[in-house]
Amino acid sequence: MSAPKRTYKIAAIPADGVGIEVVTAGRTVLDALAAASDGAFAFDWTEFPWGCTYFERTGRMMDRDGLEVLQHFDAIYFGAVGWPSVPDHVSLWGLRLNIAQNFDQWANVRPVHFHPGVVSPLRKADDTQLDWVVVRENSEGEYAGLGGRNLSGRGPGNEVALQTALFTEKGCERIIRFAFDLARTRPVKKVSSVTKSNAQQYGMVLWDETFTRVARDYPDVTTESVLVDAMSAKFVLKPEDLSVVVASNLNADILSDLGSALAGSLGLAASANYNPERRFPSMFEPVHGSAPDIAGLGVANPIGTILSGALMLEHFGLADEAARLQKAVDATTGSGVLTRDVGGTATTDDVVAAIVDNLHL
Ligand SMILES: NC(=O)c1ccc[n+]([C@@H]2O[C@H](COP(=O)([O-])OP(=O)(O)OC[C@H]3O[C@@H](n4cnc5c(N)ncnc54)[C@H](O)[C@@H]3O)[C@@H](O)[C@H]2O)c1
Repeated sequence: MSAPKRTYKIAAIPADGVGIEVVTAGRTVLDALAAASDGAFAFDWTEFPWGCTYFERTGRMMDRDGLEVLQHFDAIYFGAVGWPSVPDHVSLWGLRLNIAQNFDQWANVRPVHFHPGVVSPLRKADDTQLDWVVVRENSEGEYAGLGGRNLSGRGPGNEVALQTALFTEKGCERIIRFAFDLARTRPVKKVSSVTKSNAQQYGMVLWDETFTRVARDYPDVTTESVLVDAMSAKFVLKPEDLSVVVASNLNADILSDLGSALAGSLGLAASANYNPERRFPSMFEPVHGSAPDIAGLGVANPIGTILSGALMLEHFGLADEAARLQKAVDATTGSGVLTRDVGGTATTDDVVAAIVDNLHL
């Protein structure tokens, strides 16, 4: 067989817990898709052992020169980081946030997709077409890492901690423009901006004002500004009103978990961390964490990771292949091959085998 027309170099970082199972699952499906592409494309995988086990051995979450090494890949396919043996802020900052922040992956896109055959806790989902995307500011806001712990010298009970959120006009503007550009590609051209500017009167007011200014450049896109508490209610009560929801790092993190739970399970939710300028590789990963409660049992839902692979295909300009993968996943859930988090009895491997079969539909 002749060499594929294009080979994508992918850094796989399964990291911890179910991350290892779902990245294996995702790689199997993506390789099957590449094999069925008649030589149009292939993946060249390099797997890195970074994560909490690596930390226990070396005292580091990733190699010292890890970022330099990763820089030369076309994309990063990530599992999940975190294990009870390492404090969560150490593991998260040492690996996932280290990569996302240093590679300026400032746009985190998290589609909320409702799958056939998966029962949503929302009764409305039975007879209403629901589909929206959460766009998360991924470089600053509440996760800027600014602050410190002080005054512990004053004795027990007197320590003070500051956790400062950073909002720059440039940071707000680029993510808001990204959301408007994305809305223009969707059937419903609408952007909902989410803040808490009644209580947080500096950063979030700057966000609101930037949103109003940027919106003037997109007269064809409908807009609304909603406070985060009201938006969480709207996710449940009026989700048919949503198309693109743009929010700060923390607010969008919380809202996207709510969205994936409404779609049936955290295990279904895909995400992409983009460096839109393509100066650095972008990173594709499920929304969920390492799920220590089910790790190693072979029952993790691989769909969030597999559909993160579909987002990676779109990023490479392989939109038809991404659609083919999405269709295979929908056919799989529609035929009742479901892991237990969505009410089924299938194992991770059963779901992978069914998706691979359904690629040929
Ligand atoms: N992006 C990341 O790497 C990321 C994100 C969130 C949490 N974490 C880390 O993961 C660890 C566990 O955190 P948590 O328990 O709060 O969140 P979690 O997402 O790991 O688990 C929450 C619940 O969802 C279930 N779940 C998650 N993924 C699933 C899947 N693929 N299939 C079926 N069920 C699934 C789990 O069993 C659990 O009941 C912590 O160390 C945390 O810091 C990492």
